[in-house]
Amino acid sequence: MSADEAATMFHSGMTVGMSGFTKAGDCKALPDALAQRAREEGLQLTVITGASLGNDNDGLMAEAGLLARRMPFQADPVLRREINAGRVMFMDQHLSETVEQLRCGSLPPVDVAIVEAVAIREDGSIVPTTSVGNTASFVQQAGKVIVELNLAMPLALEGMHDIYIPGERPRRQPIPLTSVSERIGSTAISVDPQRIAAIVITNSVDSPSSNLPPDAETQAIARHVVDFFSSEVSAGRLTPALLPLQAGIGTIANAVLHGLLESSFSGMTMYSEVLQDSTFELLDSGQFTFASASSITLSAEMNRKFLDNVERYASRLVLRPQEISNHPEIVRRLGIIGINTALEFDIYGNVNSTHVGGTHMMNGIGGSGDFARNAHLSIFVTKSVAKNGAISSVVPMVTHVDHTEHDVDIVATEWGLADLRGLAPRERAALIIERCVHPEYRDMLRSYHARACAAGGHTPHLLAEAFEWHQRYAATGTMLEKVAEPA
Ligand code: COA
Repeated sequence: MSADEAATMFHSGMTVGMSGFTKAGDCKALPDALAQRAREEGLQLTVITGASLGNDNDGLMAEAGLLARRMPFQADPVLRREINAGRVMFMDQHLSETVEQLRCGSLPPVDVAIVEAVAIREDGSIVPTTSVGNTASFVQQAGKVIVELNLAMPLALEGMHDIYIPGERPRRQPIPLTSVSERIGSTAISVDPQRIAAIVITNSVDSPSSNLPPDAETQAIARHVVDFFSSEVSAGRLTPALLPLQAGIGTIANAVLHGLLESSFSGMTMYSEVLQDSTFELLDSGQFTFASASSITLSAEMNRKFLDNVERYASRLVLRPQEISNHPEIVRRLGIIGINTALEFDIYGNVNSTHVGGTHMMNGIGGSGDFARNAHLSIFVTKSVAKNGAISSVVPMVTHVDHTEHDVDIVATEWGLADLRGLAPRERAALIIERCVHPEYRDMLRSYHARACAAGGHTPHLLAEAFEWHQRYAATGTMLEKVAEPA
């Protein structure tokens, strides 16, 4: 049926599970049709996805007033505005946890699942497209399922997915995945065809990623991380294949992986949630032998190349549900090296990845917490300054904590890398200030830390001063202290 007809099945107050993970494999037609109903009739829904959506769907739905509640991640400027204005209630969740909370009834049940498919098999099972995300669990749990069958997606995608849903707690068996390339599930999502309420035909590819190409700063960050890996190999703590790599979304993490192209490491694998352009460059160079994730989000050019050559990559890729790609049990078992991006970190290594100025949502924590807490090595990267130097990304105290100092092993900016393993807070602060801070802010932080240490404590702080930098930015447009004019 048409998307408009399918949209008549919804009424306000329903919970909808939609496919889509960082712009990959999202529904292309229903969001627009539902937004139209919101504009005309005031329809309001709770929308749960895998992660952010493409095609401006989040913005479209937010602008129309469709979204009463939204979880677990977004990256859209219009939705961001609505969240920060308090008009959309946003639940920022660890991406591995959403379906666990649905399964145990902590979240309202999914009334309708809307999922993109490349094929529906004769037994009714659904073959997803470029992401799995939470789709399999939405389909399993929903009262009704609407399938968007996307004719623009190559049928060669069939076979790339590995659908495994963990058993009931508390007697759940271990997830039987012991290597990156292992397959433990099925290649399609099984569903009783009676629950398929509509099939809507679409015909468009995913939106391209908005990552910027590497620049001088991100290349410098990449060099520090690659040099660190080399020193770990020299010390015998890593082999030249490293350990399975995870890289977060965004320009900076993508650039760090891109930096591995210049390295001599080989036989590397990836166990991540999103595969970006850099993954395919490393598969093409032969340095990556296998990549496992929950979605594939690429630039327009790389996406075309991938979709035209799926067969060439198929034996080296697998797409899993996000609770498996991000599962703490697997992350710890495989010994993942997690590389994620901070908006800001503080002198002790606490990381804020989500809240600008401590209050305003940027995107969400995504999977960074799933990986950071359980990784063999948890690395956070950021440029040392933002907004042309008006903001220091290293501050006395972060204004919101997504990753505590206990989950952070390494921090790096374009100025250098601080290896925090085995260091006490006072030692961590000294190293971070000397290695990672932009020179314009270094003396200010040295002074803060020295005075805080004089006041005492295991993690010394001057509470009256800790957020002064953020207050100064809000009041004057820069965190820098004004230098007195010469008389
Ligand atoms: N204060 C205010 N704004 C800041 C800032 C700070 N301390 N640091 C960076 N920013 C701004 C930048 O100026 C930029 O703004 P713009 O879009 O207006 O130009 C924006 O944040 C993005 O920063 P950028 O330097 O381009 O980095 P990025 O594209 O790599 O994104 C995050 C960085 C932190 C926003 C992004 O990685 C994210 O959302 N992370 C959380 C989710 C996550 O880690 N998932 C990982 C598993 S996939």
